[in-house]
Amino acid sequence: MGPGTIDEYTERNDRILARHRVSRRAALRAALTGGALVYAQYRLAGAAFAAAGGTAGRAGVVVSGRHLSFVPGADGVPRRAMAVTAQLVSRTGRPPAGLRAVVEVGTAPGDYGSRFPAEIRHLTGSDAIAGGPVCSQFYVKAVMERLAPGAVHHYRIRLSDGTVTGDAHFTAAPGPAAAPFTFTAVADLGTHTAPTDPRHSWHQQPAVVRRAGGAWPAAVFDNNSYPSTDPVAGAGGADPWPAVTQVGLMRTQNPVFTLVAGDICYANPSGQGLPADDSMAMSRTAPPGRNLFNPYVWDVFLDQIEPLAASVPWMFTTGNHDMEPIHGDHGYGGHRARLDLPGNGPASCPSAYRFVYGNVGFLAIDANDLCAELQTNTGYSGGRQVRWVESVLREWRSGTTVDFIVAFFHQCAYATSDKHASDGGVRDALDPLFSTYRVDLAIQGHNHQLERTDPIRYGRRTRSAPDGSTIHPAEDGVTYLCAGSGGRLRSPFRPAPGPEAPAPPGVRSSGARELPEGERYRGHRPKSPENTTASVDNSYVWSGAETVVGKSGQKAGVRVPEAIDWSQVRYDAYAFLAVDVVPAAPGRTTTLTVRTLADALPGTRQPYTEIDRITLARIAGRGMITVAR
Ligand SMILES: [Fe+2]
Ligand SMILES: [Fe+2]
Repeated sequence: MGPGTIDEYTERNDRILARHRVSRRAALRAALTGGALVYAQYRLAGAAFAAAGGTAGRAGVVVSGRHLSFVPGADGVPRRAMAVTAQLVSRTGRPPAGLRAVVEVGTAPGDYGSRFPAEIRHLTGSDAIAGGPVCSQFYVKAVMERLAPGAVHHYRIRLSDGTVTGDAHFTAAPGPAAAPFTFTAVADLGTHTAPTDPRHSWHQQPAVVRRAGGAWPAAVFDNNSYPSTDPVAGAGGADPWPAVTQVGLMRTQNPVFTLVAGDICYANPSGQGLPADDSMAMSRTAPPGRNLFNPYVWDVFLDQIEPLAASVPWMFTTGNHDMEPIHGDHGYGGHRARLDLPGNGPASCPSAYRFVYGNVGFLAIDANDLCAELQTNTGYSGGRQVRWVESVLREWRSGTTVDFIVAFFHQCAYATSDKHASDGGVRDALDPLFSTYRVDLAIQGHNHQLERTDPIRYGRRTRSAPDGSTIHPAEDGVTYLCAGSGGRLRSPFRPAPGPEAPAPPGVRSSGARELPEGERYRGHRPKSPENTTASVDNSYVWSGAETVVGKSGQKAGVRVPEAIDWSQVRYDAYAFLAVDVVPAAPGRTTTLTVRTLADALPGTRQPYTEIDRITLARIAGRGMITVAR
């Protein structure tokens, strides 16, 4: 089939699903394969449940993968509430009829004074995946209300059969007078443990796959495709599981929340938002016009993030690998069940929303709607999302309570890399608005590497901002950071620098860890007789002016070469952002400091190394007064 809309794919899946529900073949297939998959899924969740202190009840079900989310109102201000979702996994594949769930909340472990009813949501659709796993997924969802602003709350999830999770605790969003706080951000995480496909016996799998805990071939539904030369995850590297490490390292920063700029778990590793078909998965590919899809990658991912996400809100937006047409709603229907997207953006864009924390306004934007590179969902909001972005920016800049504006989205307005570089659709839609309304920071993903730009206004670099700079976004413009360095197989920058682009201090690459093609340095120096780095001005931007059909059958744009001068910091292995915000009284200077922390640099013995730091400064309480010049 040729390219269609994601809604057409969904309709087709629904038709297949309706057929399968009554077909004897499907029932037989479920009986043959479902039992083993159910058991594997239950074991996986059971281990996470036990590790988090859960106590089993009578029904043979476990609750794992708890993750929190703020519950902002229509104005973006967090309500006195916290949303929690967790997966409910049964030994039999289906929880017993009549099972109920509640969330208990209190001020100390074991002292839970409040109870909130939880919904059990059944997510169907896996039956419609040709050659795919057949099983069901259930989620427990609740909103904990009437929280004391800024206070620590303990909670646990209890089922009517006696099953109860371990205690977890979180700090509720503060009131208007905010103290300094830190948040973290990352994108393109993925997982390292593939869900099991019971049709292929464990012993038939290569040892490396067995070690990774899965039975699909490596690099299909997991991150295990690092080349032996990978500086961190390759042969002899310090850490074979960078995505797991990123989550652990973010925890060391005591963030009040984490942003995820799309490409969350790679349940759709093909990433084009095409209909699901796993019939060729064992050869690591999908038939033309189709995408691989395994919904059980979500089970693995939610367990992977639970150690942080059970106590710290994870605020997600969507990337190309998050278009899952099998669940409808432009491919985002599954996220409505699995996550707690705030839903205060345009009605048709569940992954676009806003929230305010302290003196910072956060804008989650679904770049799939704006993208020129891959056009499966391009334009699906009919322009509503961009109009909404402008209205929010205008509102925030017309008031005096939001000083900094941080936008996060997946495909990059400004980035360089060999794989994706910049997206002209995203850039054309957002750069004029961000420039006009003086957005401070844009956090992006999609390119699997770390890159920071100099400040940019209306497409032009305004100044040089090397490592350690203080930037005044009201005059200087927007800093774009790509943090697609979350753990998925890294992508190289364009042609490599020579020894002119040195490694961070204290880092010595040697042997297999050396990356002759790589770029990692703290503070880029512009081209000069001493630094002849060839790659600096060598980039490209995706244009949607011409639409072609890509090799998987997806609608795609074309690459247009461009010379660029704004690539300030580049790092081609694993890293995340820790951002420290210091609010201030009106008229005083408030700061937002972005620290880039790299995972397990070769040659160092620390858990992480700071590889870049900038401070954004504004006068608090000025609103658009700062802008009107
Ligand atoms: Fe990605
Ligand atoms: Fe992506």
